[in-house]
Amino acid sequence: MKTVTCTAPVNIAVIKYWGKRDTGLILPTNDSLSVTLSQDILHSKTTISAAKEYSHDRLWLNGKEEDITKNKRMHNCFRETRALRQQMEQDAAQRGETLEPLSSYNVHVCSENNFPTAAGLASSASGLAALVFTLAKLFDLPSNMSELSRIARQGSGSACRSLFGGFVAWEMGSKDDGSDSLAVQVAPETHWPELEALICVVSDEKKGTSSTEGMQHTVNTSPLLQHRIKEVVPARMAEMKKAIHNRDFQTFAELTMQDSNQFHAVCLDTYPPIFYLNDTSRAIMKIIHEYNATSPDGKLKAAYTYDAGPNAVIYAPKENMREIIQLIAHYFPGSSDNYFVDPYKLFTSTQDLVSD
Ligand code: ADP
Ligand code: DP6
Ligand code: CO
Repeated sequence: MKTVTCTAPVNIAVIKYWGKRDTGLILPTNDSLSVTLSQDILHSKTTISAAKEYSHDRLWLNGKEEDITKNKRMHNCFRETRALRQQMEQDAAQRGETLEPLSSYNVHVCSENNFPTAAGLASSASGLAALVFTLAKLFDLPSNMSELSRIARQGSGSACRSLFGGFVAWEMGSKDDGSDSLAVQVAPETHWPELEALICVVSDEKKGTSSTEGMQHTVNTSPLLQHRIKEVVPARMAEMKKAIHNRDFQTFAELTMQDSNQFHAVCLDTYPPIFYLNDTSRAIMKIIHEYNATSPDGKLKAAYTYDAGPNAVIYAPKENMREIIQLIAHYFPGSSDNYFVDPYKLFTSTQDLVSD
């Protein structure tokens, strides 16, 4: 028996992925770009053991066993990493060496998120990235992050970006087999140290429509999505990469808020519509716009973004963060029963995924 534990960070997209052209391989309808957050505060921690005696693959998520018999995405990750391990075992045998036949063992996976699961804070990204990275360590696979990113993509699309730190693009690729659909680092975590993220937990409840289900309804019914993927995202990706390279917060902030808003507009354009934002989310958007309007030189001071859930992520230069936290705390005093805003200060950084 062998056991390994690793952690992986969440990433919050500033140009959103929403739509698949291939649901089996998880190939997206557009490129996307995200910021990987520090693991200090938000992470998935996954322990995997492999043993001859295990009768089947099992998963415990946040202390509760989940039935994964029909979970194709997890099985994709198991299959791909086992195939790489099996190749290593065969290569070793040809050299006359013996490797433990871990590829033929079943595994027990135990994973915990230290933040709300399935609430629009990218738990599938950190969770599936942690799964793939931990399997790779368990099987002693060479740490080829591009290869692991391709595998994590088949667990949850956004997970492919959590294998890298800093600013990360997921290039949609054009091949039918998905071999060119993977994440690449646009800039390292050290590139823009003044940029910070604030997570406001508006609700920690599980969302009503999962990202997987929601985005396919959008692909099937939203005419606005077609405009977004053809006309809007390609230009925004180029502009966003340039803004990041130049540490141009004005452009970064404008594009981030516009892209979040367009993503939620395509959710509304889905038929029947999908609502991820609530009144608190919208109030936070208004507060940020009002705060930006107080800027004496017209320069933006903060940008909000929302994934498929009501929880806000606010990107801002470090120098503004104290003011923003005070503002949020003023409008949503922590004692209120209805409004729970939990302001965490995060630094954009990547630590190596840790293995014990
Ligand atoms: P989120 O907005 O949190 O990413 P999704 O709807 O995309 O929500 O995905 C949530 C699902 O991801 C969970 O229901 C679970 O199946 C899976 N998931 C979340 N965390 C983990 C984890 N740590 N390990 C394995 N699977 C996970
Ligand atoms: C709004 O990666 O969770 O967070 O690939 O079906 O697992 P699946 O979906 P997922 O979708 C994330 C959508 C998003 C935007 C983003 O992270 O780019
Ligand atoms: Co997700």
